[in-house]
Formats: sequence, C-alpha cells, structure tokens
Amino acid sequence: MALLPAELIKKKRAGLEHTREELQFLVGEFVSGALPEYQMSAWLMAVYFKGMTSRETAMLTEVMLHSGRVLDFSRARSLAVDKHSTGGVGDKTSMILAPIAAAAGVTVPMIAGRGLGHTGGTLDKLEAIPGFSVSLTLDQFEKQVSSLGVSIIGQTAEICPADKKIYALRDVTATVESLPLICASIMSKKIAEGIGALVLDVKFGSGAFMKTVEQADELATKLMEIGAAHGKKVASLLTNMEQPLGRFIGNSLEIGECVAILRGDEFMGRSDFEDCRDLSLQLAGHMIWLGGLARSADEGYAKAVATLEDGSAFRKFEDICRAQGGDLSALPLPKHAHDVVAPADGFVSAIDTEQIGYAALALGAGRLKSSDTLDLTSGIEIHRKLGEEVRKGEKLYTLFVRDASFAPKIADASARVLSATTISLQKPKLAALIAKSKIN
Ligand code: URA
Repeated sequence: MALLPAELIKKKRAGLEHTREELQFLVGEFVSGALPEYQMSAWLMAVYFKGMTSRETAMLTEVMLHSGRVLDFSRARSLAVDKHSTGGVGDKTSMILAPIAAAAGVTVPMIAGRGLGHTGGTLDKLEAIPGFSVSLTLDQFEKQVSSLGVSIIGQTAEICPADKKIYALRDVTATVESLPLICASIMSKKIAEGIGALVLDVKFGSGAFMKTVEQADELATKLMEIGAAHGKKVASLLTNMEQPLGRFIGNSLEIGECVAILRGDEFMGRSDFEDCRDLSLQLAGHMIWLGGLARSADEGYAKAVATLEDGSAFRKFEDICRAQGGDLSALPLPKHAHDVVAPADGFVSAIDTEQIGYAALALGAGRLKSSDTLDLTSGIEIHRKLGEEVRKGEKLYTLFVRDASFAPKIADASARVLSATTISLQKPKLAALIAKSKIN
C-alpha cells in the first residue's frame, strides 16, 4: 500500500512510532522535492510536540546519513576528528579550534551549518571573508583535508542533503528545539564526514536550545549513544550559554574576534576574549586527545596553547582561507554604530541570551525567513558581561549595521538588548564555563 504524507503526519501527531520505511519515505520524498515544505513542516512540528523513541531517532539518523555519500578518512595522516556545537550566540569556536587541532596534527574534515533559530552558523561567518567558498566539491574537500589536514565546508547535494534541507526548514518553522531532530541532524552529518571521533559542545542556558544543564546532559547522552552505535568515540563538554561567548556577535565581527584570538592581538581595540579563547582551547585539547596526539585532554590543551603561541594555528587559518579562496585582508567591517547605554548603576546579573541572538538577527546578522540575505557586517559588541560593573549612561552594547541606510533596524534591536539585560546592585555568582565533560 502506498504511503500517504497526511497519514504519516497524523500518525506522528498521535504520538505513534514510525517504521524505518515511513521515515525513509518522508525523508526521501522531501529530498527529491516530491514532498512539499508545508507537509514536512507539519510533520516536523508533530515531532517537536510528540518526540521520537530512541529506536526512531536512530533510524532517522541512519536514513538522513544515507541520503548522500559517506566519506572515509580512515587512511588520513591521523585519526579524523571533528567538533560540533549544539548552537549558541557568539559561538565562534570552530574557526579557532579547527586550525589549532590541524596545526597539532589532527585530521579535521569539518562539515558545518548555517545559522539556526537565534544562533549563528559557522558557514555564514566564514562567508563574511570575501571570496571564501564553503561549497567545495567533495573531491576538493578530500584533497584539501589530505594536503592541509583541514577543510570547512557546508553540506553538499552529495553529503547529507537531507540535513541541509530539513535544517533550513526547521530554522524558520520553530522546530529546532527537539531532541530527536537535533540528534539526527548532528550525528547524520558528522558520521557522513568519515570521522573516527567527535567532540561535542553541548550548550545549556538562556542562549542555548537546551535551557538547563539536565536537558543538555540528556542530549549529550543520546548523541553519544548514536556515536557509539556507529563505532565513534565521542567526548561531550556541557558548556554554559547564559551569556554570549566572547565579545562580538555577527558574522564579520566574529571572524575579527577569531583572528585576534589566533594571533594573540586585538580586534576593534579589545582583546578580552578569555571565555571564547579558553573554550576553544578546551575543545581543541579534547580533539587532540581523541585524535591520539596527546595522552590526556590536559596534555591536548597544552599542545593547543603551543599552536597559538608559536603562530602555527594562525598560519593554518590563513592556509584554510587561501585554499578556499578567502581574502582575510579584505574582511568588511560595519560603518554605522549605535551605543546602547545602561539605564542604572549596578552589575550585569542576567542576560536573556536568546533575545540577544534575536537582536542580532533583527540587525541582519541572521535569517528571519530562509530566503533572507544577510548583512554580513551587522552585529553586536558586548561591553559588559555577566558580573561586570556598569554605571548609568555607560555603554552596555554597541549595535552595528553596514551603513546608515540600515539604521531603522536599530530601534527593535536596542529594545531587545535592553530588555534582555538585568542590572542589579548585588554582584552575581558566576557559574563555570564548562559544567561537565564526559566520554562514551
Ligand atoms: N546543530 C545542528 O547541526 N543541528 C541541530 O539540529 C542543532 C544544532
């Protein structure tokens, strides 16, 4: 009997478990274009509300993984290891840790994503570098990984096309924060890369899809189970996203911050990027360890630091840019700035980071609908982070847009960042950046 999309949507709406054949049908028809977006959106929303069993999640991952080619880097110079983040605001660690890990000898075939919901995406950030191509053919990707040890691209029509299409639809249909959809999305594209091991940055807090550390822990466990079922070693770091990472949000601004961290110098007059630098080093340290180039995560961390200090990580980043056509020296920067000042004296005690992400989207740094084009220069500078003191009238944020013609976007973003920031007389207790790490 032929499968009917509306029946499958109804089945999931009733909370029932799909068969492999049904999942294969839904994903296959959507990838081929036979299943329209409105039916896929309805099904995704049903999954959002009704969830999936572990068996269904594993089957969905398999079906998505085999929607394209599965690469094999088992004969590379060293074990292939990648990192994946579940998504955050100002989360720019990929551009820092990929060259660090590669400079330390790890093979890093990275297939990254675009912005999702209120979070930014590695591909959009890299495209802020004029000429940088994230659309290499798989042949070019494999060649670059074997010559440089690293390449960063997006899903192609050949590799995990199912995730590429479903991810773009979830981004604009409020169906991102679903455990089974996140698991299948991340693990299908990561396993398709041909990695031997994976480091996961599972974020929790006001700027993450998982709001509590318990939810992040549950997600990490599920992701690690899928990894183990495919013979992959997976380490998970549960990391705090109660505030944006680093000092800048927005595509070209974040590249500027990454370059400053890699070179050990300044961007737009500041170098206080400790949280972003340290998290990048911790994640890279775990990659170096899982890649077999250090005996522990601590030794991996020390090796990661050495690549920053001897300049090899920055040189590797320059190599990546050159190989993928990017001209770092032409990085565009915004021409119009607007300061948002503190309404009272006190300490920044809470930040609704999701709202800060939406403010960056409102400025043009992310997509409100899938056809939107980005203003790659727009974004936000964070002058006061959690626990930092501020006086009434001092700068809390600077909002950036390409030029004055984009200024109308600023009113909404100003209101959002102000209402997202709590200032209290009492200095808040700060939580650790990394709450927990575990390995399968
Ligand atoms: N990152 C992904 O790649 N997919 C998701 O669904 C969420 C975060």
